[in-house]
Amino acid sequence: MNVRIIPTKPFADQKPGTSGLRKKVAAFKVPHYLESFVQSVFDVVAAPAGSTLVLGGDGRYHNREAIQVILRMAAANGFGRVLVGQGGILSTPAASCVIRKYGTHGGIILSASHNPGGPEGDFGIKYNTGNGGPAPEKITDAIFARSAVLSSYRILDTAGVDLDRIGRQMLGDMAVEIIDPVADYAELMESLFDFSAIRELIDGGFRLCFDAMHAVTGPYALEIIERRLGAPAGTVINGVPLPDFGGGHPDPNLTYAHELVEIMNGDSAPDFGAASDGDGDRNMILGRGFFVTPSDSLAVIAANAALAPGYADGIAGIARSMPTSAAADRVAGKLGVPCYETPTGWKFFGNLMDAGKVTLCGEESFGTGSSHVREKDGLWAVLFWLNILARRRLSVEEIVHRHWAEYGRNVYSRHDYEALPSDVAAGVMAQVRGRFADLPGQRFGDYRVKFCDDFSYTDPIDGSLSSGQGLRIGFEDGSRIVLRLSGTGTEGATLRIYLEAFEADPARQKADAQQALAPLIAIADEISQLRQRSGRERPTVIT
Ligand code: G1P
Ligand code: ZN
Repeated sequence: MNVRIIPTKPFADQKPGTSGLRKKVAAFKVPHYLESFVQSVFDVVAAPAGSTLVLGGDGRYHNREAIQVILRMAAANGFGRVLVGQGGILSTPAASCVIRKYGTHGGIILSASHNPGGPEGDFGIKYNTGNGGPAPEKITDAIFARSAVLSSYRILDTAGVDLDRIGRQMLGDMAVEIIDPVADYAELMESLFDFSAIRELIDGGFRLCFDAMHAVTGPYALEIIERRLGAPAGTVINGVPLPDFGGGHPDPNLTYAHELVEIMNGDSAPDFGAASDGDGDRNMILGRGFFVTPSDSLAVIAANAALAPGYADGIAGIARSMPTSAAADRVAGKLGVPCYETPTGWKFFGNLMDAGKVTLCGEESFGTGSSHVREKDGLWAVLFWLNILARRRLSVEEIVHRHWAEYGRNVYSRHDYEALPSDVAAGVMAQVRGRFADLPGQRFGDYRVKFCDDFSYTDPIDGSLSSGQGLRIGFEDGSRIVLRLSGTGTEGATLRIYLEAFEADPARQKADAQQALAPLIAIADEISQLRQRSGRERPTVIT
């Protein structure tokens, strides 16, 4: 084996954010940049010689090149085997599924999730541990520390492998197994959901549309929704993954999934619409002319979980990220199971799931999932909804309205201010923090401030503390405003404002969310001086 040891200078900017290291493609093309990060990962995880790794990505620009580099480095670092999705493709939840199914040491996922791709777009890399989930903070911190002092990396001096040929190839002493990226995942989905009930629903004329946004879920959705569940050809739109996602922004929200939104608001709208993001872990659920907020989606799934065979025995508990609405808490309360409130980011759910304390997890940012893998899972959520619809035979809108009538509605919205100058965003946060001393007890119209704090979380399993996780202003009636800086943006700073109010009265539950939240939106601006400080009149994205 021809191992080369290449000297490199340490990089100071390889701190993994909410979901791994994410940068512009150009940054990853800087000589030794990717290699240094990968070597830091390998040094920190210290896999025993001969270990197996999983490797794949969302197919974005630079995916194949990065995979060839990582394979040559894995061989030079003593791995015995790497499982790679054909064509370099593995959705994030599928990668998690493969890591767990084959009991591998871990996996490397190449993705910048919902961020745009292409030569001018973003690229990303993250390491998942043997439980299938994103590496916890103590590992990502160690990777960062390692990258700041690294002086060389190991790589095999050899040609790459054929990523498109299923089967085994050798790279030095290491086996590279090119696997079908869909098969293991599709089998797992069939074990969780009532495919025959869904097939019957679709046979009976129920119509749906799934927008893969030219990202990784195309092949997964075609196999599962069209082939296995028998939906007509054309049900999956934008199903061919493209390196630049067709120039789009592969984020399944009301702004970026506009093609689907137009279809679902049109005269001949199907009964159900859904979309997923770049790497397949996010989901958006729509009914005919109706949007289901991700917070409500989690609550509806929890309330109806027993209808799906994989969850028929009940759920152990629910976890949601702090900014996610408390709709799920109400369901947990009724079911008599615990509901955990964690910081933003899927990695905080891993310990709770590993310890068997929760079954379902969700984030307001279009992330929903369960302990079947250790990532959020877009298609899983879509199949869960189809399973519920097949069993309840109501429209999406009716299911949500009945849910609100039973539990009350947590009226919810998130306002994002993207690409703000970093000092402006920091100034807004400092301004709000500066008000913390005098806000409690203060009255704003009908709202009286009960508390304000900077959210921190102590992991109940390993005792680790994560602080500085978002500024919360809670009101006496349970409404709240949360402000947080994004950890995934790659341009300037993104400020997120989360707004939530509770409506118990069914007669008022169907109101437009922005209207119902208007007083809170005004209070948020008054306290943060956001408009004045940023010069922005409105958010970039409203969800
Ligand atoms: C965003 C979401 C967060 C999610 C993360 C990764 O992070 O808000 O819920 O876990 O993407 O998909 P943020 O940019 O807010 O740090
Ligand atoms: Zn994603």
